[in-house]
Amino acid sequence: MSGLETRPLHADFGAEIVGLDLARPIDDVTFADVRRTVAESGVVLIRGQAHIGPEDQVAFSARFGMLEEHVLTQFLLPGHPEIFVVSNIVENGRHIGAHGGAKQYHSDLAYLSEPSMGSVFRCVECPDDGGETAFVSMAAAYDALPDDLRRRLDGLDAVYDYVWSYDKRLAPLRGPLSEAQKAKTPPMVHPAVRAHPETGRPALFLSDIWVRNFVGLTEAESRAILNEVMATAIRPDAEYVHCWRLADIVIWDNRSTMHRACPFDETIARRLMHRTTIKGDRPQRKRQAS
Ligand SMILES: [Fe+2]
Repeated sequence: MSGLETRPLHADFGAEIVGLDLARPIDDVTFADVRRTVAESGVVLIRGQAHIGPEDQVAFSARFGMLEEHVLTQFLLPGHPEIFVVSNIVENGRHIGAHGGAKQYHSDLAYLSEPSMGSVFRCVECPDDGGETAFVSMAAAYDALPDDLRRRLDGLDAVYDYVWSYDKRLAPLRGPLSEAQKAKTPPMVHPAVRAHPETGRPALFLSDIWVRNFVGLTEAESRAILNEVMATAIRPDAEYVHCWRLADIVIWDNRSTMHRACPFDETIARRLMHRTTIKGDRPQRKRQAS
């Protein structure tokens, strides 16, 4: 144990790590504690990192695992392709980053065979009002389900269908996907309840956006189950809403949490975030008691 000082962000999940400077070398024992805190808490806040640069963020993030390079290459930070810029700022007539973050709860890249392990977000500029990021714990949601529904979900697999979801929600706004894009995101089956690879704790791994049905169930039957699950997972008292301060770093674990972007007045306020995204592995089913 490194003696890392933490304090809770929410009664069910989330922790702030106090007194850690990401610009200074972090020894292996301390980093193991940071990793354990992320795995156990789901969301970790480290404040006051104004002095760190993109290279510090990349080096810190890479200790968790391999980093993703986003397909939207126009929004990668010049000289630092591991950093994906998220922003509503327009310079010289073009957006400097990806804008209009997902307003519905999701876990990043859940529709891929190996969804993202987690993300590291650094706040470079934020609005005074709005633009928060809200989180829920899917491990706490699993625990809160009625016993019969929890047992049923233990045995279910969910079909993620990105193309079906895109056609329904986004195609009218953004136009259809190309055949090449469709080929990259075939329907994917994941267990509805996954065991966290580091803690073993079960968590719901489901999406209101991308899950079309459960294997062996119709879309209507699946929708009824999803509605009940989401009503338990997404409640105001189950949410941690992070109000960004300049130079905050938030690390979230996509294996046990979902998040959404909160709106703000994009016509007057500026928001600029630097994101690094950590590669993940194939979700594993919760181990059944023998
Ligand atoms: Fe996201």
